[in-house]
Amino acid sequence: MTEQAARKPFLYIVVCAAGIAADVSKLITAAQERDWEVGVIATPVAMNGFFDTAAVEAQTGRPIRSAWRTPGEPRPFPAPDAVVVAPATFNTVNKWAAGIADTLALGTLCEVAGLGVPVAVLPCVADALASHPAYRDSLERLRGMGVRFGQPYTGEPDEDGGRPEFGWERALDLVERG
Ligand SMILES: Cc1cc2nc3c(=O)[nH]c(=O)nc-3n(C[C@H](O)[C@H](O)[C@H](O)COP(=O)(O)O)c2cc1C
Repeated sequence: MTEQAARKPFLYIVVCAAGIAADVSKLITAAQERDWEVGVIATPVAMNGFFDTAAVEAQTGRPIRSAWRTPGEPRPFPAPDAVVVAPATFNTVNKWAAGIADTLALGTLCEVAGLGVPVAVLPCVADALASHPAYRDSLERLRGMGVRFGQPYTGEPDEDGGRPEFGWERALDLVERG
């Protein structure tokens, strides 16, 4: 088998600055179990204490990408076969839908619209923010671009005081749907 034929499909996981990002290793584990090679791209705010960056780098075997590379540097990851944004914040969803590309995460997301690869998003957005009309417009615009969304998740405790499960694996189901 050639090296090209043996290559596992490459999944970008874009991590935003939501509290639930602390559990992103669950998504990485699930993706690796499904035979994805994983590269993590995080927003600059997410790099600032929202998840264990050293553990994620050890888990993926690759540096997390957050800052722009310099013009002379090679692209750090292969082109993606699929992209998952989890967790996705209110801020990143709105900026992405508006075509703003002022972080590596957003630039990557804006660009994948033209690559024809599956893109799945698991938002973590409180109900109060989700009711903002700009957010509703952003979801509609991204859906119109073919982006696939998991169930809304507010990050808030349920009636029992527990926190509902964040459906990490749903993102993989969505990109594997074909
Ligand atoms: C502890 C903490 C938890 C947060 N959780 C969320 C969240 O679940 N969803 C969200 O949209 N914003 C959340 N925020 C606010 C975002 O971090 C903030 O809007 C930030 O600008 C998002 O940046 P990013 O989209 O570039 O990652 C949280 C902030 C803090 C300090």
